[in-house]
Amino acid sequence: MSTRTLIRGGLVVTAAEEVHADVLIEDGRIAALAGHTTATARSWTADRVIDATRKYVIPGGVDAHTHMELPFGGTAASDTFETGTRAAAWGGTTTIVDFAVQSRGEALRAGLDAWHAKADGNCAVDYAFHLIMSDVNAATLREMPRLIELGVTSFKLFMAYPGVFYSDDGQILRAMQRAGETGGLIMVHAENGVAIDVLVAQALARGETAPRHHGEVRRALLEAEATHRAIRLAQVAGAPLYVVHVSAAEALAELTAARDQGLPVFGETCPQYLFLSTDDLAAPGFEGAKYVCSTPLRPKEHQAALWRGLRTDDLQVVSTDHCPFCFAGQKELGRGDFSKIPNGLPGVENRMDLLHQAVVDGHLSRRRWIEIACAAPARMFGLYPQKGTIAPGADADLVVYDPHAVHTLSVTTHHMNVDYSAYEGRTVTGRVETVLSRGTVVVDRGTYTGRAGHGTFVPRTTCQYLD
Ligand code: URP
Ligand code: ZN
Ligand code: ZN
Repeated sequence: MSTRTLIRGGLVVTAAEEVHADVLIEDGRIAALAGHTTATARSWTADRVIDATRKYVIPGGVDAHTHMELPFGGTAASDTFETGTRAAAWGGTTTIVDFAVQSRGEALRAGLDAWHAKADGNCAVDYAFHLIMSDVNAATLREMPRLIELGVTSFKLFMAYPGVFYSDDGQILRAMQRAGETGGLIMVHAENGVAIDVLVAQALARGETAPRHHGEVRRALLEAEATHRAIRLAQVAGAPLYVVHVSAAEALAELTAARDQGLPVFGETCPQYLFLSTDDLAAPGFEGAKYVCSTPLRPKEHQAALWRGLRTDDLQVVSTDHCPFCFAGQKELGRGDFSKIPNGLPGVENRMDLLHQAVVDGHLSRRRWIEIACAAPARMFGLYPQKGTIAPGADADLVVYDPHAVHTLSVTTHHMNVDYSAYEGRTVTGRVETVLSRGTVVVDRGTYTGRAGHGTFVPRTTCQYLD
């Protein structure tokens, strides 16, 4: 028997338009939209009616960059797929794209299987995977088309972290050539890791061991240089490129110049680069460790360039790079040596609210908010229109969002499995009220009603900006 849910009275906001409409959901999908006062909407009956008067009805967020349970720096990210996707649901994100990791000496498929083993049956919301290639060689290059067939259409390569995830320029060029042939999308972590390692050793030798030195050695110029190099390698390979976690204005300028040349080059930034800065990294004592991530936080002056890039579409996506490590016992591994602080920040629960705050602050329009948080990541990674919009046939991944509610972000109220909030004490206007994942209510006006295992793996098609 079919189940029908009706969301009544809200302002439906998508990347394309804003309409006062009721939304009818049938069997997990959006069946129809109709103006509140139309005869069509008035004729609708449903098993459940959700009142969205004075609220927005928005697509569920698509967070295209998370690291649940990622092994890193001798420890592992503290959110499991269960806790991390539950927190995502609380924050209005109904799809994550997490990074499966190919270990050195192993097949790509082994990395994917390992991530399925972690995620399958445990997620509260839907999930997909990218694949981190730690070992680009003839065998793994041959394997790439099979991964694409399995719905894993994007591959992350690291220009940073020599000896761990690092690929050299030749490996990157080969992977880009293969992606160009097969329709895959190469994502790069653009920092010159070889040069950074020299600066790390020199800083430690001078006795500069505090967290703020992490930001100082990972120079903006070395992000810009790597971004430039990745763009040129992609151009030579005839392949598209997606640069993850852009934080420096100089790196963004490289993307802007490439896009002005008509190259298929895309970029993502993250809330931490828009709302936090080196001032946080320089917090007294060892507190700055909470803000250690790579690319690093930058001086506040970079933020204006990132906001502008989001408005001008030189940056297309805001993802979280959610990679939480507890302060106690994990970040503390780097006391006395900043290079041993595990890299990463929590944020999967905060992204939709922080970006709505950017609407309130005048950085973004309401539709651009939905575009960078829902529609563009879905299109970029082959999930649209199943995800990222509100239209007949799409999955009923929906959020009833109260744009007037004021709340304070804090470790005492968040649901991420981490012992601090990167945004502790920050007051934001706008709050998730009710969340549906494929028509199932998973958050109901402040109560979690979801379950581990509701979320399913979503195979992805190739990047839809290249169609
Ligand atoms: O600091 C970060 N970003 N940690 C996660 C791994 C990565 O490079 O994305
Ligand atoms: Zn990275
Ligand atoms: Zn990441």
